Amino acid sequence: MNAEVQSTPKVPEYRETLLDGVDHIEFYVGNARQAAHFYRSAFGFDVVAYSGPETGVRDRASYVLRQGDVHLVMTAPLAPDGEIAEHVRLHGDGVRALAFQVEDAGAAYQDAVGRGARSVAEPHAVADEKGAVTLATVKTFGDTVHTFVERNEYEGAFLPGYRQEFKSGTGAGLQLVDHCVCNVELHRMDEWVDWYNRVFGFDVFQEFDESDIATQYSALRSKVVRGGRGGSITFPINEPAKGLKRSQIDEYLDYYHGPGVQHIALHTADIVETVGWLRQQGAEFLAAPSAYYDTLGDRVGDIDEDLERLRQLNILVDRDEHGYLLQIFTRPVEDRPTLFFEVIQRKGCRGFGKGNFQALFQAIEREQEARGNL
Ligand code: FE2
Repeated sequence: MNAEVQSTPKVPEYRETLLDGVDHIEFYVGNARQAAHFYRSAFGFDVVAYSGPETGVRDRASYVLRQGDVHLVMTAPLAPDGEIAEHVRLHGDGVRALAFQVEDAGAAYQDAVGRGARSVAEPHAVADEKGAVTLATVKTFGDTVHTFVERNEYEGAFLPGYRQEFKSGTGAGLQLVDHCVCNVELHRMDEWVDWYNRVFGFDVFQEFDESDIATQYSALRSKVVRGGRGGSITFPINEPAKGLKRSQIDEYLDYYHGPGVQHIALHTADIVETVGWLRQQGAEFLAAPSAYYDTLGDRVGDIDEDLERLRQLNILVDRDEHGYLLQIFTRPVEDRPTLFFEVIQRKGCRGFGKGNFQALFQAIEREQEARGNL
């Protein structure tokens, strides 16, 4: 057990309604203005709010991007020192905060800290003429944090300190955060699964091991934890496993310099439409081997979508006992091979595309090899 994962002698009973869902995901980036433009032009997000020197914030500039219920915040430092600059120096552009919507930030914070979470910021109110919100923050894996956001009846653009802004991104049909995946170090997955269970009452939803997730070279283990109101928050947690060569998780950990968010999966109601549009806008996706589609019909049975169109767009399909899902993965969205996005459409299926791991990991390994990291 390491210092980050503390145990507490007495754990009060968990109340499921404490976390209502994902409020927003904040990235620390080198240049927030350019990052915002990228997510607007390539992924169709609207820019809806801004904070920086013009709104009285001296040390950072932040842009809020919205599409459906998905809110991404791009934050850049305005000086060479401080927490944001240090995060960018060490990790490159990446996710700093997975923020939860809560009814009572004070209670959520006290509960989490009482169960062993480390404090980053105690509950504090921030206000402007549009109202007040209460925020509090605890640490999770690596330099990543969870912020509790209690909005009350706040009527402003995003949070106090932000002004309303509107630059349309036209939309790509992305609706909500389906899941966020984190990569942790070898032999640390179970500690973090326990942490999410103890601190937030998350249950293990699914697990995968080397026999599910292994290619000729690289492998990983994964457990999926889920919780919050109605199971609205889902975090698969990966750790590397031994393969013939270096796991894609090791490559991530090397370039991110520690654990962090590996990918964010965004749900769409029409993946063919969404991915067709994203490709036109220049979003880059991993390519499935063309042989993948030759056997797809046998593997997943009848589906509503045109197989030829899925092949053109490189969309993957998987099925479980509840139905099927369609998914596709972007290439990393930074120069470092770290964070990427997934676009997913669920037609009953509750899984994460286990049947696609082989094809997907071969595609990742081709890119890893091109980087000289296999
Ligand atoms: Fe995923």
